[in-house]
Amino acid sequence: MSQSYETLLLERRGSVAIITINRPEKRNALNIKTREEGAAAMEELRLDDSVRVVVITGAGDKAFIAGADIAEFAGRSAHMQRAVMVERSLFNAIDTFPKPVIAMVNGYCLGGGCEVALACDIRVASETACFGQPEINLGIMPGGGGTQRLTRLVGEGKAMEMILTGQIIDAETAFAIGLVNHVVPPDQLEARTLELAHSIAEKGPIAVRLAKEAVKIASRSNLDEGLRREVDLFALCFATEDKDEGVNAFLQKRKPVFKGK
Ligand code: COA
Repeated sequence: MSQSYETLLLERRGSVAIITINRPEKRNALNIKTREEGAAAMEELRLDDSVRVVVITGAGDKAFIAGADIAEFAGRSAHMQRAVMVERSLFNAIDTFPKPVIAMVNGYCLGGGCEVALACDIRVASETACFGQPEINLGIMPGGGGTQRLTRLVGEGKAMEMILTGQIIDAETAFAIGLVNHVVPPDQLEARTLELAHSIAEKGPIAVRLAKEAVKIASRSNLDEGLRREVDLFALCFATEDKDEGVNAFLQKRKPVFKGK
């Protein structure tokens, strides 16, 4: 049984859960309530073993998330803003989530919205989506990981240009610079994203979790440290029943049935 949320919808399609940020009249801008509920929903799904993959999207056909709720910036002190970012961090909740998270980007993906997509593991975009870090136009800068995750994903030159100019790029350009994994027609976005999500959800969940952990280490450590950690995580797979099932299924020429044990 799911908790109920005011600013987002939470649904399950088999072992895939979909979180939909639901403030379409405000282009799904992230206010404090949305951040809190988003982090709470992630925690709910983290503890739910029946959920193997999470998809995050925005309600309506205009926006994924058009950024932080700018109305909340008015009158906010530096101290308050830091507390919002540190204590109610939806970005960290996504980044530290142990199961795969896919951003299904259906429209404006700006500022904090782009940072939500960047915190996800894989990004699938509609042809009508667009991306940007326009904070500079408000006299501020990205604060939800944009300067760090965007730079690691697309390289310093592209990230620097996007962040310093605030330019908005279309989905094809986002694909060309490696910001998104796939660009699909709007009417195929949900089907293609769920197909990808289910293809991951049917793998052994422990191996998926360990593989995700290993890949994430790559951008956070040096090569020797990363390779050492990879070997340990790889060896850990050999302590699972899923490894026996996967190997036996291959040898017996059948499809494996992973149990997450
Ligand atoms: N924060 C707060 N409200 C926002 C918002 C945001 N980030 N983005 C959109 N909204 C609100 C608008 O104020 C408007 O509210 P209103 O109807 O009460 O006036 C409503 O959402 C619709 O926005 P509108 O600008 O009319 O829609 P649009 O489709 O023409 O344009 C955007 C969409 C996203 C291009 C435009 O709203 C925009 O530039 N938003 C700000 C993006 C941004 O700078 N994000 C980074 C924030 S750090």
